[in-house]
Amino acid sequence: MLIFNNKARLATVLSDYINVKAPIGFVPTMGALHDGHLSLIRRSAGENEVTVVSIFVNPTQFNNPEDLEKYPRTLDADIEKIKTVSDKIIVFAPTVYEMYDGNTASAHFSFDGLENQMEGAFRPGHFDGVGTIVKKLFEIVQPTNAYFGEKDFQQLQIVKKLVEKEGMPINVIGCPISREANGLAMSSRNERLSGTDREKAAGIYKILKEAQHRSKDQDFASVKQFVHNAFAALPGFTMDYFEIAAEDDLKPAVSEGKKKYRAFIAVFLSNVRLIDNISLN
Ligand code: PAF
Repeated sequence: MLIFNNKARLATVLSDYINVKAPIGFVPTMGALHDGHLSLIRRSAGENEVTVVSIFVNPTQFNNPEDLEKYPRTLDADIEKIKTVSDKIIVFAPTVYEMYDGNTASAHFSFDGLENQMEGAFRPGHFDGVGTIVKKLFEIVQPTNAYFGEKDFQQLQIVKKLVEKEGMPINVIGCPISREANGLAMSSRNERLSGTDREKAAGIYKILKEAQHRSKDQDFASVKQFVHNAFAALPGFTMDYFEIAAEDDLKPAVSEGKKKYRAFIAVFLSNVRLIDNISLN
């Protein structure tokens, strides 16, 4: 398996594929890989001539220094997991210096308002950090297809907007959320939950499923009220937000119209921040 931490060397190997227009698949990650990541990697490996997986904990997208410090870093185990999909996958695991050349700062982006709500409102600067690193990675890898999980649905829409605005010829492909057997959305942050909290966290999906069910015959305000009451009755959770928004512009929706809607949630459980979402129609 080829593993690079130098962007120029990676670009040299990839130029052989670019020159003959062979499709390059790309799965950007921050490591601590779980089955959700592996399903993206498997899909990319099946749809492209070569797949690149980046493993890089990007400092500029963390608004909370403790979250950055505690983010799990498990490179050796990640490489072993990737090998179970295929040993032909290329891993790119750069240092912060390699990606930022000594200037660890974000560029500023406008994503036509997609960045203003939910994660953008609660994690100031987060999407500038995501935009900065994804643009840098896209410029190095020059993928044909890039795969992102729908758990970070707002990030997925923002990356699609980034590619549109920068005129990058990349297909950004959203992939369904992978869940544990108890319904908890797979996330690298789940590793920081105790066994008991991991079971408790399954309540997030149960409440989202009930919200989905209620949205069939209740207005969105009543659904929101139900979710707030449900979490207030569950000890240990602190809510950042629960929002119902249109999938295309992510603007909060007050009542159902002709669009596709999703319910989005961010909660803390024992200081671990968990997000999830569910389609409503
Ligand atoms: O979703 C993630 O893991 C990160 O936000 C990404 C896309 C790898 C950028 O750092």
